[in-house]
Amino acid sequence: MKHLIDPMDISIDELESLFKLAEEIIKNEDDFNNICSHKILATLFYEPSTRTRFSFEAAMLRLGGQVIGFSEPGSSSVMKGESIPDTIRTVGSYVDIIAMRHPKEGAPRYASYYSQVPIINAGDGGHQHPTQTLTDLLTIKRTKGQISNLTMGLCGDLKFGRTVHSLIKAMSRYENIKFILISPQELQIPEYIKMEILNKKNIPFIEVERLEDVIDKLDILYMTRVQKERFFNEADYIRLKDSYILDKEKLKLARKDLSILHPLPRVNEISYEVDEDPRACYFDQVEYGMFIRMALITKLLGVM
Ligand code: CP
Repeated sequence: MKHLIDPMDISIDELESLFKLAEEIIKNEDDFNNICSHKILATLFYEPSTRTRFSFEAAMLRLGGQVIGFSEPGSSSVMKGESIPDTIRTVGSYVDIIAMRHPKEGAPRYASYYSQVPIINAGDGGHQHPTQTLTDLLTIKRTKGQISNLTMGLCGDLKFGRTVHSLIKAMSRYENIKFILISPQELQIPEYIKMEILNKKNIPFIEVERLEDVIDKLDILYMTRVQKERFFNEADYIRLKDSYILDKEKLKLARKDLSILHPLPRVNEISYEVDEDPRACYFDQVEYGMFIRMALITKLLGVM
């Protein structure tokens, strides 16, 4: 693995090795606080972020490395018309590894063709978000004890939600996974995910509109927000944005051992009252995101 652009760039063995390393870091973080000294991470974020950028930066700082970059391209020569290849060649000559978020699908892959250092896709448009998937898988492994034999409900904006696309891809490699895809008709999962992943691998899935009809069947409920920034028409966003609101009342229908995940940010789709429910895992998920990124940086830099 040189770059991480797509969740499938990581083999199952490499995933297991990352989880093992993340667990070691969680247990004995002090043992790792200098292993990236003299290494520099660049975070090139052409789109807003809180968790992904801060967790990458915190991860590198906690490993003893340093961080440069931009949180929006307006402060860089991108505004003068500089191309992705030229930006990447330039930044790559100053740093050892680059995490890049971009609104255009495929931009991090394009960047990787020109990069002399590892590129990590930190989210490209409505396409993929592989490091969120690492976070999600570590959360599932820690809460459920395994990533196989699970019925997972994915709820909300399955059309534009890149975290959902990446997670389905990654989970499709584990045994006995069933998906229940809960969305309004207009926000159903893209055909290519059905054709290239679900149908091709004979993975059982159903598509439904009502969360209440299926919540009792789920081991994991992965909530997502409606992705306002991907809509062409604001009226459509306003009509669809509150399609699902998970609250205490709906959770009465769910199993006691349900795990509720959400990549965050949340808007309205999980009521704040749910945060106290022991089934809510999304703030643990936030924290695991930093530890798995520490493990990823370490592996990509080859310092372990
Ligand atoms: N989950 C996630 O990608 O969050 P941010 O957009 O805040 O990075």
